[in-house]
Amino acid sequence: MHRHGTRRLDTAEAHATLGRWLREARRILVLTGAGVSAEAGLPTYRGVGGLYDGPTEEGLPIEAIVSIDCLRRDPALTWRHLLRIERPCRGVVPGPAHRTLAALAATGGELVVVTQNVDGLHAKAGQPELIALHGDLYTLCCTACPWRERVEDYAGLDHFTPAAPSCPRCGALIRPDVVLFGEALDPGVVRRYDEALRRGFDLVLSVGTSALFAYVAGPVLDAVDAGVPTVEINPGRTELSPVVDLHVAGPAGPALADALALVVAP
Ligand code: OAD
Repeated sequence: MHRHGTRRLDTAEAHATLGRWLREARRILVLTGAGVSAEAGLPTYRGVGGLYDGPTEEGLPIEAIVSIDCLRRDPALTWRHLLRIERPCRGVVPGPAHRTLAALAATGGELVVVTQNVDGLHAKAGQPELIALHGDLYTLCCTACPWRERVEDYAGLDHFTPAAPSCPRCGALIRPDVVLFGEALDPGVVRRYDEALRRGFDLVLSVGTSALFAYVAGPVLDAVDAGVPTVEINPGRTELSPVVDLHVAGPAGPALADALALVVAP
């Protein structure tokens, strides 16, 4: 049974509580989503200002387009939306939440970030222990041959539109090394995630994610059941909001920055 003991505190109290819990914890799990990149200037997928707040112009949900079935059936359509997701990422640098999570990891203890984001911003911020569940937009690979390449952005692919880009080696369809809807997570990534979860955590944070996937909500709900403190930082509400111990109902950057100030305070 999940407890229903979510604390209702004002902003300063909530940030102070978060800071105290971060300071006391030795092993911290932070699950992140598009909300942490919102303050770096990227749109989220869902929610207010989300890229996919409603159906796409094709009248289909995003899940049907950024999917392995669609990539096979109509690669140009999937690529149109991959470019739409990637274009706002060009030239973007890590935001306050990315930078603060990297700084928090440097204060000692252990802090593992598990992100659903494919924008590479946690890695750019220098996050030491990072698991990218959905892969990385900037590694491209061929669907037919072993060709793989890291790219800075997709500017070099724009000339393919409206067709889908093809492999420079064999001419077959290329794709980013991300998890599309309808695909399983990468087994190596799942193994690292399972190992981290098996070692256990004494504080679990969900930050800037709608937590729609079971592999994101699950560890938070398990922590609630085990009596491990849980925190959600999200200006909106999710299915986790009523069950976490502390819901910080605001943007991630200021909450984490205030908390870090307490963690490093003498
Ligand atoms: P969503 O767009 O579903 O959710 C973003 C969440 O961030 C929402 O709950 C917002 O309320 C919250 N948010 C917005 N601004 C914020 C801020 N400044 N600070 C904190 N939170 C903020 O994004 P994800 O949960 O990451 O999958 O979506 C999960 C997956 O769905 C993505 O990885 C992607 C997408 O389809 C794949 O590509 C497979």
